[in-house]
This record gives sequence, structure tokens and C-alpha cells, in this order.
Amino acid sequence: MDKYLISGGRRLEGSVYVSGAKNAALALIAASILAPGETILENVPRIADVKILLNIVEKLGAKVAWLEENTVSLTIPEKIDYIAPHSLVKRLRASNLLLGGLLAARGKAQISMPGGCNIGIRPMDLHLKGLHALGAEVEIEHGFIKASGRLQGNRVYLDFPSVGATENIMMAATRAKGTTIIENVAKEPEIVDLANFLNAMGAKVRGAGTDLIRIEGVKELKSTCYSVIADRIEAGTLMVAGAITRGNVTIGKVISRHLQPVIAKLREMGVEIIEDEEYVHVAAGDPLKPTDIKTLPYPGFPTDMQSQMMAILATCQGTSVIVENVFENRLQVAEELNRMGANIKVEGQTAVVQGVEKLSGAHVRSCDLRSGAGLVLAGLAAEGVTEVSNIRLIDRGYEKFEQKLNQLGAQIRRVQVRDVSIDR
Ligand code: UD1
Repeated sequence: MDKYLISGGRRLEGSVYVSGAKNAALALIAASILAPGETILENVPRIADVKILLNIVEKLGAKVAWLEENTVSLTIPEKIDYIAPHSLVKRLRASNLLLGGLLAARGKAQISMPGGCNIGIRPMDLHLKGLHALGAEVEIEHGFIKASGRLQGNRVYLDFPSVGATENIMMAATRAKGTTIIENVAKEPEIVDLANFLNAMGAKVRGAGTDLIRIEGVKELKSTCYSVIADRIEAGTLMVAGAITRGNVTIGKVISRHLQPVIAKLREMGVEIIEDEEYVHVAAGDPLKPTDIKTLPYPGFPTDMQSQMMAILATCQGTSVIVENVFENRLQVAEELNRMGANIKVEGQTAVVQGVEKLSGAHVRSCDLRSGAGLVLAGLAAEGVTEVSNIRLIDRGYEKFEQKLNQLGAQIRRVQVRDVSIDR
């Protein structure tokens, strides 16, 4: 159980590159099982979630090898196993993405109800409704989802634009007979990346990035080579790291179009941002202004950036209101920030943040991946030393997090904790 020790109060300066997108990489790894042969994925972040999913795919019979630091080769057998091992699936919510691919590749899938971050109830009903509409028989038995059947194109309407459900149904539909139309789909950039990858494999997916996706089923898909898009959430986190320390940083290899919701909010707060296609330059002075945030599906403000914004708003004098519309438990970071001297009140899905003059270092604990990142950012701005425990959750989604922040002038040290009893 490692923890971070952060000496706060240093202005960040300099430049840093972001890694490939966690959420795109996970979907692409899951989609790789649709085509026998060797698929090569480039710009894959070496983070815990990716390693777990690769491990699961390996257990299903694939050969996995890292060819370079961020390039991975997956060799998929003609007949991939269709039962995903419970011991690994329970550690990764995104393993549910194997359902659609396994159904399409093998005509059956068996996977335990997945685990993952403690950010809400996270049901699977929309995934299952979609797969059922494509002709799969789906049942939940003893904690397992079992799906089987020959897939046939159909119309599917999602009651909420779920990212995972959109991806699962898309993958299943690539090899269904006939045409599938999915309405009210998620429009996240990672959905577009998955569609581009599937099309590079020979699928016929149209409309990704809009709210209607149309898929003509094909008989087979071919393995390919593809590079994962830049991680917009990592980029946003590093931008806030620059701004919360009132620093001056350049974040490179980003797709600035994907960052617009974050850029807009930071600008409202008085942060100066210069953007190019591939980089954003962030400069912040004091004081910054408060602002209001409502999390929404893309292109709305991402829930994955909400904790980081709560951290910076805690340092902006005046009142900010945050409404979390996507995951019900994601405001729990407020309690930890209050331990650092923040003044945040939570009522239902709303947090009222009264900015304070200074945060002060304290012992705090990550409750999920993004709250962990938010606490690290708060620690960068706080007076004294902040200890962030349970950072295995941060390792799930950020590649070389402390190295990148230290490159910008932060002072963060990873410490191994042997005695978990002192790890609050
Ligand atoms: C993905 C991202 C996650 C991000 C989230 C929202 C990955 C691996 N993870 O998660 O980082 O925070 O999108 O942008 O890509 N829902 C249902 N029924 C379902 C499915 C979802 O009610 O069958 C609800 C969820 O409880 C949640 C909302 O829909 O309230 C959004 O969830 P969803 O978009 O599915 O998120 P994930 O795909 O799990």
C-alpha cells in the first residue's frame, strides 16, 4: 500500500507530455479479441487497469507482449476462451467491455459482475438490454453474467448515453447479421477512437461522435496496428496542477478539442490558456475566481475531472457550486479536502465550495482514482506536507504521475507502507 508525501507550495513550471488515454486503451484491448492474429496497439499507457485487462485477455488464451515502452502486441487465437476469470474481473470494472467482443467472437460470454472504483452503484442494465436486443440470451446467475446467442442487427435506444454500454453494443454489432442502429449513444472521444479502431479492422461503423451510431455487420474482422489517442483526463489533471499552484506549464501531445469543457471552466476562473492543436499552455496568477460546474456526458463537463476541479475551487475565494450528475458517490472527496482546511458542504449531488485562503497539509486517503488525483493536486497547493494514502487507486489510471509532476517542479515522494495498520 504505497502512499505519497507531497511538500506543497511550489509553483509548477515547465512542460510535460500526456500518455495514451486509459479509457480508449481499455476499449481497444477488449475489441482486439474480435480478430484472430496479431494486433499491435501503440501509445498504450502502462497503468494498473491496462495491465489487469491484458492479464485477463491472456487468461482467455491471447499472447500478450510489450514490444516497446508503450507498444503492446496481442496475438488472438482462432478460438478464444469465453469465461473471464473472476479473480481478475472483480478488480476492474472495464472488464465488462469483454462481453460484447466475446459474444461476437465466440457466440457466448461468461463474466462475473465487475468491480472497480467506489464511485456509485454502476449498474449494467443498459449493456444487457443492448445485447439482448441483438438477440443474445442474457442471465445473471450466482454473480455471473452469462450471455449467448447468434447476434442479429436491431435498433437499440439507450436511456442514458453510457460509455461502456455504447462500446459493448458497438463491438457486438460489428459481427451481427444485418444493421444495428444505436440511439442516444455516448459521444466521448474514446467512443470515436474505438469506432476508428474497429473500422481499421474492417468493421463498418458510422456516426461515432454523434448521438446515433449505425453498424453494418461483417463476417470477419482482421487484426491491425493502431495508436491510442491522448488522455484528455490526464491532460486536464496536469492543467489543473499548473493552475492550482498558480504556475506556468505546457502540456504536450494533447488533442485540445477534447479539452474544451476544462479549458472553458479554467478560463472562466481567470486562468490564461493558449491552445494549439497539440499543446495547451496554462498560466495562472492570484486570485482566481470561483465558478459553477455540472458534470454531464461529453461534450459536457467530465465527471472524471470533477474532483480535481473541486480541489482548485477550494483555493478560489468566493462560492462555487458543483453538481455531480453522473456518479452518485463522487463528491466524497469533499470530506478529505476538508481535512486540509477546505470549506465544502455536500447536500445530495451538490457541493458548495467556499474558497479558503490556504489549504494545509494533512493525512488524506484516495477514495477512487480521480479523487486521489484531486487530493494530490490539493497537496501541491497546500502549506506543509500532505500524505495521500491508498494511491494504488491513482496507479490505476495515471502513468508516471509523480514523475511528471516532479518534472514540473513538484516535490512528491512515493513511500512504501509495510504496516497497513498505520495507513489510515
Ligand atoms: C466510463 C469511464 C469512466 C467515466 C464514465 C463517465 C471507462 C473504462 N470508464 O465508465 O472513467 O467516468 O465513463 O464518463 O471508459 N449506467 C446505468 N446503466 C448501465 C450503465 C451505466 O445506469 O448499464 C449509469 C451509471 O451508473 C452512471 C452513468 O450511467 O451513472 C454513466 O456510466 P457510464 O457512461 O456507463 O460509465 P462507464 O462506462 O462505467
